[in-house]
Amino acid sequence: MNYFRQLKKKINEKQAKICIVGLGYVGLPLAVNFAKLGFFVYGFDTNTSRIDKLKKGKKYIVDIEPEDVLKLIKKNKFFPKDKKEILKDSDIIIICVPTPLRKVKTPDISFVKRAAKTIKKYIKPGQLIVLESTSYPTTTREIVLPELKKSGLREEKDFFLCFSPERVNPGDKKHPITKIPKVVGGLSSQSTQLAKNLYSTIMNKIHTVSNPEVAETSKLLENTYRLVNIALISEFTMVAEKLGINIWEVIEAASTKPFGFMPFYPGPGIGGHCIPCDPKFLSWKSKKLGFKTKMVDLASYMNHFMPEYVIKRVDKALGKKRIENSKILILGVTYKKDVKDLRESPALDIIEKLQKRKAKVDYYDPFIPYIDINNINIKRTGVSAKNIKKYDCIIIVTDHSKVDYAKIRKNAKLIFDTRNVYKKDYPNVRRL
Ligand SMILES: NC(=O)c1ccc[n+]([C@@H]2O[C@H](COP(=O)([O-])OP(=O)(O)OC[C@H]3O[C@@H](n4cnc5c(N)ncnc54)[C@H](O)[C@@H]3O)[C@@H](O)[C@H]2O)c1
Repeated sequence: MNYFRQLKKKINEKQAKICIVGLGYVGLPLAVNFAKLGFFVYGFDTNTSRIDKLKKGKKYIVDIEPEDVLKLIKKNKFFPKDKKEILKDSDIIIICVPTPLRKVKTPDISFVKRAAKTIKKYIKPGQLIVLESTSYPTTTREIVLPELKKSGLREEKDFFLCFSPERVNPGDKKHPITKIPKVVGGLSSQSTQLAKNLYSTIMNKIHTVSNPEVAETSKLLENTYRLVNIALISEFTMVAEKLGINIWEVIEAASTKPFGFMPFYPGPGIGGHCIPCDPKFLSWKSKKLGFKTKMVDLASYMNHFMPEYVIKRVDKALGKKRIENSKILILGVTYKKDVKDLRESPALDIIEKLQKRKAKVDYYDPFIPYIDINNINIKRTGVSAKNIKKYDCIIIVTDHSKVDYAKIRKNAKLIFDTRNVYKKDYPNVRRL
């Protein structure tokens, strides 16, 4: 049996059954896009409450509308399940499980290992398995492959294996996943070809590379590039403050150069599942190979210092009042604009640090009704004109669109704007 030819035909005729493992920010949009195109798509997630939400039309991912999901379920194109057995009925399995950092900042690939173990149990000849979760180079070959081989099936003969990094940018309407070029690297040209054929059904451009390690490393380069450049701008922000000039104006001026410069902007610190974590995968793997990264480590350090720096600047802006005696409102607590995601958010760090300094801290975020800081539940406050007037300082940490910034400025005593929401200087606004 020529499994390669068989699967290629199924993909080209959209008859291949796809199973997405992990229906989060990455997996769910992928599942919806394949199902919309006419593929039969299973979604497997161990989180039963997510499966229930999908079936009941409840939203949990910013870019995916529940009505779209319900339509696909009704049309018998999308089947969200928490039963592992569906893996056996699939031709293609795409792994989109989390890859966080442990407390000690080393990669936690236990979710990938668990997913690979489950797939091994149900793997059948002729399947294509793709890992999309971001991880350190060699994860596909040294972690996923050996597990799958325990089934007794042979790679590139009985099953095909690829790494294809996900580049989704949640909340970004300008760049839907279908318009972002997709990098694909398989164990052999056959695996690469199958994944290329698959993704080209929903994506505009596929870029193939020689092997999974190149694909894994390319993802880490993309995010480390951002980390290092944000760190550089953070340092420039500190220098600009000493010079008494405005960093936003400096960046605007430099951005007029038509070549050799790309703008990055300062902020209260880095957050999310990618920028703080991915460079650590690289430095961890590199250390194992006997090479200590320096740029990456310094950039991480710089970025993690930003919450502390913001507090220093707020303290200075408060003058004699000082943080210790102040009532502070944090505006926006998610790690980025218009996204309901608190992972690694610098706002949490800022709140904790302010509380340690004995400030009285409240927050407002249209997406988050409550947060947990050191096991203490804090409920969101309101942003009525009367409430805004109560605070000594409002720190804009995340610049969600659904906030009336003009009203905030009209009523606030002092605003510390870490996102350049106000674009120019006002008597009660200090920009980072
Ligand atoms: N969120 C982003 O913007 C983004 C962008 C690019 C890449 N990535 C990478 O993609 C991967 C997934 O990230 P995410 O943001 O979608 O995570 P997520 O936490 O939103 O979703 C992951 C899902 O996987 C499920 N899961 C965990 N273990 C499982 C298992 N063994 N079997 C089945 N389901 C399981 C979880 O219940 C969860 O629903 C990570 O490696 C991340 O670094 C994320």
